[in-house]
Amino acid sequence: MRALVLAGGSGSRLHPLTSSMPKQLIPVANEPVLLHCLRNIRAMGIREVGIVDGRHGDQIRAALGDGSAWDLDLTYIRQHTPAGLADGVRLAAGFLGDEDFVLYLGDNVVVGDLAGAADEFRSSRVAAKLLLAKVADPSRYGVADVGPGGAVRAVVEKSPTPPSDLAIMGVYFFTREIHAAVHRIGPSPRGEFEITDAIQHLIDTGAAVTAQTFTGLWKDTGTVEDMLDCNRTLLDLLRPGVAGAVDAASAVHGDVTVERGARVSRSVLRGPLVVAAGAVVEDSEIGPYAAIGPDCEVREAVVRDSILLAGAVVRGRPPVTGQITDGRLRVTAPANPSARRSPA
Ligand code: TTP
Repeated sequence: MRALVLAGGSGSRLHPLTSSMPKQLIPVANEPVLLHCLRNIRAMGIREVGIVDGRHGDQIRAALGDGSAWDLDLTYIRQHTPAGLADGVRLAAGFLGDEDFVLYLGDNVVVGDLAGAADEFRSSRVAAKLLLAKVADPSRYGVADVGPGGAVRAVVEKSPTPPSDLAIMGVYFFTREIHAAVHRIGPSPRGEFEITDAIQHLIDTGAAVTAQTFTGLWKDTGTVEDMLDCNRTLLDLLRPGVAGAVDAASAVHGDVTVERGARVSRSVLRGPLVVAAGAVVEDSEIGPYAAIGPDCEVREAVVRDSILLAGAVVRGRPPVTGQITDGRLRVTAPANPSARRSPA
């Protein structure tokens, strides 16, 4: 079995940050989303991974290289125009050949047993297997209508009247039957070749498409609020530990991770939070739910519920809250306190 990771796209919901970097390299709890994906793929017993990348593809290639650091063999496939998920599968036909594969959206974070789902797919021999997650707002997602026994009767993309509250996660299992389907479909009203249309084509032509409800954690990181929500969830799961230098004039409350090589002086740290290697924090209040990236400089500042990208410099006021920032460009979560956990 191979894997195909889609890491192109336009990332328009995270502009302006994504004008200079791909959203798949934005770290949550200090690890790029794309690395979370690759770790899960390796845990499924897969080594051969194709990565579809787009206009920021060179940054992805520089960050991941040939994949050997993660015991993976990476092949890069450039998608020059973000023409949809099914277009990504079309471009990767040569890499995938006749093998079964998992299609993994490079902006999805999953914590849970994907290896078990992959094993079940390997033995089931259906044309496609979807993983579903219950969501509160299904009209934002592709949704599956599932019959008794787990057979999928229909898939519907972002409908105002979705047939269920079971969103289709960004991890799909396919046999080679999908290749004919991605060539039979036309562009959708938004001008993209939709993977849901290709799956519907499989269903309409009598191929077996099944679904399993996933009980682990699934988050799509397409918006800043999704990304910060994911950051909060993964910070909650992080095993705390202070390996860096925190001076005696600083106070540490709750679950705090300060990596080796980070330096914290005269500051208040309220976990959950992480301060990455090489970061310097002075005279500041950090957390809860802050991820300070490698080599950041934070002085006389307040940083809460935010992600500081590698090398960001933040000094003085105003407080950084509900933001992802590289120190110059920033995206800010809409003010909606009910969507957030209250600070500790
Ligand atoms: P989306 O989040 O659906 O699309 P996007 O990345 O273009 O973002 P936005 O809607 O904010 O403009 O994409 C899901 C994943 O698939 C993401 O990792 C990007 C990737 N993708 C491709 O690789 N090629 C594509 O043509 C599209 C549309 C997405």
